[in-house]
Amino acid sequence: MSSYLEEGMITPQSGMVSYSSYLKVNELLSLQKPLSSPVEHDEMLFIIIHQAYELWFKQILHELNLAENDLQKGNAFAALKTLKRITTIQNILTQQVSILETMTPNDFNLFRSRLNPASGFQSHQFRVLEFRMGLKDRVYLKFFQTMPDGKLAMEKALAAPCFYDHLVGFLARKGYNIPAEILSRDVTEEWKPSQEIEDVFTTIYQNHAAHYEAYTLLEALCDLDQQFTLWRYRHVAMVERMIGSRIGTGGSSGVKYLASTLQKRFFPEIWSLRGRLGSEIPYGK
Ligand code: HEM
Repeated sequence: MSSYLEEGMITPQSGMVSYSSYLKVNELLSLQKPLSSPVEHDEMLFIIIHQAYELWFKQILHELNLAENDLQKGNAFAALKTLKRITTIQNILTQQVSILETMTPNDFNLFRSRLNPASGFQSHQFRVLEFRMGLKDRVYLKFFQTMPDGKLAMEKALAAPCFYDHLVGFLARKGYNIPAEILSRDVTEEWKPSQEIEDVFTTIYQNHAAHYEAYTLLEALCDLDQQFTLWRYRHVAMVERMIGSRIGTGGSSGVKYLASTLQKRFFPEIWSLRGRLGSEIPYGK
């Protein structure tokens, strides 16, 4: 017996839960089906990295349910713990782009035509994430006519309150002056940036020590928003490196389209308030 093994180590018997049966490892490993023939080596990486992204998107959406429940219960610290997990995952998602950059444009071009017209643009979980963060742009639904499960998940997210609705509800219950028309807004609509909300947030930031709970929560959401934007930057830079000025397999202008999405923000007031902090510094001082 190897000196590394111990007496108590279990040999699973039939009928027992095992690593493989619990995690469905065989099923999982059978889900990578390259379309190139003969198989191009890098297509496996391309498939696995996208599948890994989808798994993490699933986990982020799962965590968002918990964070929303925490806010409903008035428990900011529980929500913060969950948001920290989400931003940690996002950080990995951004870093993961580097793995794809070990593939050269030539390697990619060997199988790119095979996946045409599929594109990450058709990731319904990515859109659900945007919708749940308040960017409820219904126009995206039309790209999911042939993906009924994904379309249904998107419609569900469009019909439900977004994270912002949970946040302002939480702040109102904590005594912050959130206007009634915002609390009773039509939640199926996109979140519209509001001056009144920016005013409330500015008060919190101007005296963060007195509003520590709300301030920490808003900063955690700023982290989440920033991480999402960093992913967008990382993705578009990688895309330019990979396909230059070519159009995307999803039919968009490619880099030009992706660059236009860099302006998107989930919590616009958390960003705009910063221009109101401190006083203007006179030119030349
Ligand atoms: C060689 C690698 C990749 C290339 C060349 C690429 C290229 C593109 C292009 C050109 C678009 C714009 C839509 C289109 O016309 O297709 C796009 C969108 C998108 N891609 Fe990628 N992509 C790559 C990898 C990935 C990976 C690994 C993910 C992870 C899930 C991903 C997720 C997305 C998402 C979510 C969108 C939609 C973005 C938006 O509409 O805001 N892509 N990609």
